[in-house]
Amino acid sequence: MSGPMVEIRNVHKSFGGQQVLRGVDLQVTQGEILVIIGRSGGGKSVLLKHLMGLLKPDQGEIMISGQEISRLRGRELDQLRERFGVVFQGGALFDSLTVFENVAFPLREKTRLPEEAIREKALTLLKQVGLADMGHKYPAEVSGGMRKRVALARALTMEPEVVLFDEPTTGLDPIMVNAIHRLILDLHRRVGFTAILVSHEIPEIFGIADRVAMLHRGAVVEAGTPEAIQASTNPVVRQFITGDPEGPIQPD
Ligand SMILES: Nc1ncnc2c1ncn2[C@@H]1O[C@H](COP(=O)(O)OP(=O)(O)OP(=O)(O)O)[C@@H](O)[C@H]1O
Ligand SMILES: [Mg+2]
Repeated sequence: MSGPMVEIRNVHKSFGGQQVLRGVDLQVTQGEILVIIGRSGGGKSVLLKHLMGLLKPDQGEIMISGQEISRLRGRELDQLRERFGVVFQGGALFDSLTVFENVAFPLREKTRLPEEAIREKALTLLKQVGLADMGHKYPAEVSGGMRKRVALARALTMEPEVVLFDEPTTGLDPIMVNAIHRLILDLHRRVGFTAILVSHEIPEIFGIADRVAMLHRGAVVEAGTPEAIQASTNPVVRQFITGDPEGPIQPD
């Protein structure tokens, strides 16, 4: 396949009178790990929802391996979504299903695999995220970090080509943050998906990203390698990555 895996072209989105995205341009190459940073409320989750066709742009285009997704409907959209794995902000597990059943759920819903194959696959995934012994527990009975890992395992069950992670580590202790990052890197190496990850973990994300893109005022102000972003002379980028309260970005 040639061309970018994901191409976002001039995407605009408003809610009521509020302009959230004002011309986002971004390309994601197949197999790369792209990390999106930017202020809380800046539209990062909204942008991810556009990639899955959960929201439609007011203007602009989103191409997934050359297919314009806002034109897709019904079955075509379902087929496209099957190529995505998603770790939602907050995890979004099914509370009434065990950890094991959460991971097995996509296999039961979307495949006709026999029970034995489903069990084997779900167990393999749970092992990969270090939760082989936790399958019988309910989400409320495991820690926040474990829930994030369950969400990660569930996102990978259908062997997606693209995995979207919306703040997969927010609210976790520093050791767990690094453990999850290492897990993402490890799974990425083994499975080879394209990853788009929204994160506030600065500086940790510089250790896992191939590229970092900063969203500000509804547009990408800069995208580049971790080295380039860390050496950026753009005052907005500099202020954000150093967390300086003084600068062009004003706290609300
Ligand atoms: N469905 C919706 N209807 C109306 N407004 C929305 C909707 N979804 C998001 N918004 C608004 O869009 C803005 C961006 O929200 P978004 O969730 O994308 O922020 P974010 O960058 O992900 O922030 P955080 O880092 O806190 O998760 C917010 O002001 C939010 O209130
Ligand atoms: Mg968000």
